[in-house]
Amino acid sequence: MPAGVHARAPGKLNVYLEVGERQDDGYHDLHTIFQAVSLYQDVWAQDDPSFSVTVEGSVDTSTVPTDARNLAIAAAKLVAERIGHSGGARLHVRKQVPVAGGMGGGSADAAAALVACNALWDARLGAQELHALAAQLGADVPFALLGGTALGTGRGDQLSPIPAKGRFEWVLLPMQGGLSTPAVYAKLDDMRESGADYRPDPAAREGVLSALLAGDASALAEQMRNDLQAVAVALMPKLAGARAHDRHARASLVSGSGPTIAFLVADAAEAEALISGLSDDGYPGALHVHGAVAGARVLNEK
Ligand code: C5P
Repeated sequence: MPAGVHARAPGKLNVYLEVGERQDDGYHDLHTIFQAVSLYQDVWAQDDPSFSVTVEGSVDTSTVPTDARNLAIAAAKLVAERIGHSGGARLHVRKQVPVAGGMGGGSADAAAALVACNALWDARLGAQELHALAAQLGADVPFALLGGTALGTGRGDQLSPIPAKGRFEWVLLPMQGGLSTPAVYAKLDDMRESGADYRPDPAAREGVLSALLAGDASALAEQMRNDLQAVAVALMPKLAGARAHDRHARASLVSGSGPTIAFLVADAAEAEALISGLSDDGYPGALHVHGAVAGARVLNEK
């Protein structure tokens, strides 16, 4: 076990992702419903004169930057700046969430680093202050702090918790080669300019909300929506072949900007059968997870 304060934050799915108009700042107005799932990023933080990070994981981490572009480093720097701490931090990140997979892995690194450094430096920043720092780091970072199930509006960073009932069983299929979130949004803008209209759907939002509040997976399966899905499939056509396996699940949905595919399943037996069917068809590496799980938290105190 690496040394230092140990924090953990979950990856997420968007069970609903309605992408509205592009704003002047380049971000799109969202109505999204996040659910945190049982794939985690672990971060250890130790005092050090400067800021550095090492990265390992059960997923391919070869494309993760370890310089100032790394979101865990950015998070640690932000906490130091906020409290006037003159030292740095040596961070270690262990990833389970696929990199560039549409599951908020980098955001979870940042959220875990925020709470780790808050404890490391005894900064005592409260939930609101941490949320404000998180929103500066990226649109999905506040949700990685909060966890559970939540509605996100604005950039996706204005959150209202949803007391979802029960437990939802998912099979995640990570795909080789990630998709860049800005590229997926830019392609959506292109597709919309050539006629694919945005259609707000408040009734569908309500439907998803009711399904979650009731813990009704089959109702959720019928109502899930992701406006980035068609874009992700256009950029990575092999997603369509994998999604066809949803005849062995309740439903499937590309997660966030993709390319990870989330299959909503009934139980562990259905998950297991789906995972082996996917593997036999040339889609290895699927994982059975569940939601909702807690947001970023410290697992050991100093
Ligand atoms: O905030 P974050 O760095 O995670 O966002 C990555 C990119 O995703 C943004 O630069 C933007 O291109 C796109 N995005 C968006 N609208 C959102 C969230 C993200 O266009 N609500």
